[in-house]
Amino acid sequence: MNKKQPLLEIKDLDVSFRTDKGTVRIVHGLNLTLEQGEIIGIVGESGSGKSVTSLSVMGLLPHPNGFISNGEILLDGRKISNLKEKEMRKLRGNEISMIFQEPMTSLNPVYTIGDQLSEPLKQHRKMTAKERKERIIEILNKVGIPRAEQIIHEYPHQLSGGMRQRVMISLAMLGEPKLLIADEPTTALDVTIQAQILDLIRRINKGKNTSVMLITHDLGVVAEICDKVAVMYAGEIVEYTDVRTLFDEPLHPYTQGLIASMPNMNERKGELYSIPGNVPKPTDLPIGCHFSTRCSFATERCRVEEPPSIKNGDHMVLCWLHTKEAMEAQPVEVKQEVGVNDGDQYAITS
Ligand SMILES: Nc1ncnc2c1ncn2[C@@H]1O[C@H](COP(=O)(O)OP(=O)(O)O)[C@@H](O)[C@H]1O
Ligand SMILES: [Mg+2]
Repeated sequence: MNKKQPLLEIKDLDVSFRTDKGTVRIVHGLNLTLEQGEIIGIVGESGSGKSVTSLSVMGLLPHPNGFISNGEILLDGRKISNLKEKEMRKLRGNEISMIFQEPMTSLNPVYTIGDQLSEPLKQHRKMTAKERKERIIEILNKVGIPRAEQIIHEYPHQLSGGMRQRVMISLAMLGEPKLLIADEPTTALDVTIQAQILDLIRRINKGKNTSVMLITHDLGVVAEICDKVAVMYAGEIVEYTDVRTLFDEPLHPYTQGLIASMPNMNERKGELYSIPGNVPKPTDLPIGCHFSTRCSFATERCRVEEPPSIKNGDHMVLCWLHTKEAMEAQPVEVKQEVGVNDGDQYAITS
């Protein structure tokens, strides 16, 4: 029997932008597979290419400057990268939907919530006005919006941030998409509301078997709801595995640094670890490993040669430290010592 076809496959994806400094590659050699019903987290600091990746899947790269310069994206086995805009528009809202960090930018301030939710129903389905209203109230109730009958007559600015995000989610779910892309959906919200929205996303995933690509800079969010996780750094996936393995056995020094920076990983108040330095600009990438400038394990080789992608089953890491030769030559466990922040950020324990 053939292996079940994944819902989404991203193969060797490169995304570039034409800028006044020439063409700059933003995303490089990205590979990712998402099965039906899975939640994948894409995590990394700001500027690592997470949003550009999600916009490529949505066919929403800024035209004509942003473009896919290599590789392909398949949805249900069908190539969707570089589809004509007309074809892509049929997919958006139906097969794939997206929600963003700030719902105010995606909701139209001059239309009521009811009118905005009616629009996609008018376009795609033959429904009477009454049926539309019923459907809208039903979906608003499902996403946990109280007083839906009243809310449909209100404008976005009359709602709280959390309620607006719920409206965005209901808008995204109207077409019952197979894939929901959520780009920092809870970043603008306070912690309690954040937990409610994550819970809602999980309920949608479980209830409808909707696959979710959740983009976040926050590993806490990943730990909360994701099945798999891709850690992105400077345009590349540097580690890819299931969530449990990521937290139990992080291999990449960058992943270890992210885990060590999680607030609850460090009990001593006010001594939160942070990875030294910043994500390099795409125009200014180090040769060799992109993380080598911030990695305290970096060797000469790391600084000059691009690291290989090393796979152990479904666990992938892009790092010279984990080649067979490196492991044999120096059989030490590379591990971030959590809780230490005295300038000596990394420690090797055997
Ligand atoms: N329209 C654009 N033109 C040129 N560069 C861009 C454009 N959009 C994003 N970038 C660059 O791509 C890189 C990745 O951005 P982004 O995907 O937004 O990062 P993330 O979502 O991980 O914070 C950044 O260096 C950003 O400056
Ligand atoms: Mg982003």
